[in-house]
Amino acid sequence: MSTTLALDVYGTLIDPFAIKTSLIDHVGDKADVFAETWRTKQLEYSFRRGLMGVYRDFSHVTRAALDYACEMHGARIADDDKNELMNHYRALDAFPDVATALSALQQRGVALHAFSNGVADDITALLNHAGLGDRISSIVSADEVHTFKPDPRFYAHFLERTQSTADLTWLVSSNPFDVIGAQACGWRTVWVKRNPKVVFDPWGHVPTAIISGLMELPALFTSDKGAA
Ligand code: 2OP
Repeated sequence: MSTTLALDVYGTLIDPFAIKTSLIDHVGDKADVFAETWRTKQLEYSFRRGLMGVYRDFSHVTRAALDYACEMHGARIADDDKNELMNHYRALDAFPDVATALSALQQRGVALHAFSNGVADDITALLNHAGLGDRISSIVSADEVHTFKPDPRFYAHFLERTQSTADLTWLVSSNPFDVIGAQACGWRTVWVKRNPKVVFDPWGHVPTAIISGLMELPALFTSDKGAA
């Protein structure tokens, strides 16, 4: 069996902060802090809904976090404009290193799957917009199991869906909560430390590999489909 990569999407393949280009029209110089609040609350809501067992899909969670950020920052954004922002969230830019890195991994025969809290339609739209659709074998969405990362049930679902095993599966993610979640399930992990300021949670877990961008990823996987 070949190595399987579970590729996190938001923050790893796709830049969620690319939304700032639209936010500026509504909140001006607050765009940076607004986007941070939006992303932080989006993830917090996914954790809370997963723990409470009151699932709503990631698009709902993202919209609720947008409403929170508006309240928090005193921004009055009309519903139509919020809908436009949510449309942009389905067409965010990929990081510049992604396309080349995924092509190089494909050439090494590594199985590439998108592994995301996002609903499949949204992830499909994002990957197609970024021109990445033909590099990904399948999309495994949290919406299939009605919970969110880092629930171990979602990682188990990924193995089942991709017919892979923990020992041959690597998570590739910029999100420490996701890396720790995967390691707790016995996977190997690559932490994509895109932002040098990000602190990895002091939980006693150490990523199998730490890279600063996806171009370092292919070198971890030799041509015989194993990990170096
Ligand atoms: C994901 O794409 C939210 O980044 C996380 O699943």
